Amino acid sequence: MMNDVHPEAADDGRRRRPEERDVTVSDPAGVAPCTDRSLRSVVLQDWAANRGSTKSQVVMAAFRLAHHWDQGDSRVPGPVRKLGVLGYKVLTTWVLGVEIPPETSIGPGLVLKHPQAIVVNGQSRIGARCMLRACTTLGNLVERDGAETASPVLGDDVELGVGVIVIGPIHVGDRARIGAGAVVITDVPAGAVAVGNPARVLPAADAT
Ligand SMILES: CC(C)(COP(=O)(O)OP(=O)(O)OC[C@H]1O[C@@H](n2cnc3c(N)ncnc32)[C@H](O)[C@@H]1OP(=O)(O)O)[C@@H](O)C(=O)NCCC(=O)NCCS
Repeated sequence: MMNDVHPEAADDGRRRRPEERDVTVSDPAGVAPCTDRSLRSVVLQDWAANRGSTKSQVVMAAFRLAHHWDQGDSRVPGPVRKLGVLGYKVLTTWVLGVEIPPETSIGPGLVLKHPQAIVVNGQSRIGARCMLRACTTLGNLVERDGAETASPVLGDDVELGVGVIVIGPIHVGDRARIGAGAVVITDVPAGAVAVGNPARVLPAADAT
């Protein structure tokens, strides 16, 4: 499970300046160094979750290999790794229309539903067993002074509907579900359902 606090969130709700940030968001499972696992299990950690979509399986397997090489693998010469990472970017971004930079921190079991026009900022963090659908963007903001904010953090088991945009230093809690077409610009608590533009959290089904 990931921490429920975004690293940039201050107690009073305002966005923290970079020098104020002191909360560490744990790395999602599966982002720990891969060296203690076989390369096969690293590369195929999303395969079963994406059964039924060969494209999703290929994109995620390619991402895992590129991520592994991007983090460094002493068994493979540096130039070969760089070439592999470049090949991953060309294949996925230019050809397959899915832009997930190799440095992105992603937990195991990421599901890509209809993987078209998916754009993820490389500083984003995605927990375990999440789902991204077509036309999803996880991005940062450029502030008026030109500074870039941090990127979204998704907890574990987060489901994004088709066409969801999450921008800025936003934390989406574990098991949250975001409705199709939502634009998320504020944090979403764990277990919540949020819809609309800007996204609003729906009352819990059992709320009176
Ligand atoms: C958000 C979502 C998870 C909610 O599902 P749910 O818990 O069953 O919620 P409901 O269908 O009961 O809807 C609850 C309320 O949210 C509204 N709502 C649901 N989805 C919405 C959406 N995407 N945008 C705006 N409002 C939405 C409903 O109109 C309803 O409003 P009301 O209470 O005023 O009548 C679901 O509607 C959704 O969007 N899932 C994504 C599916 C998707 O992307 N499919 C694409 C396949 S390629």
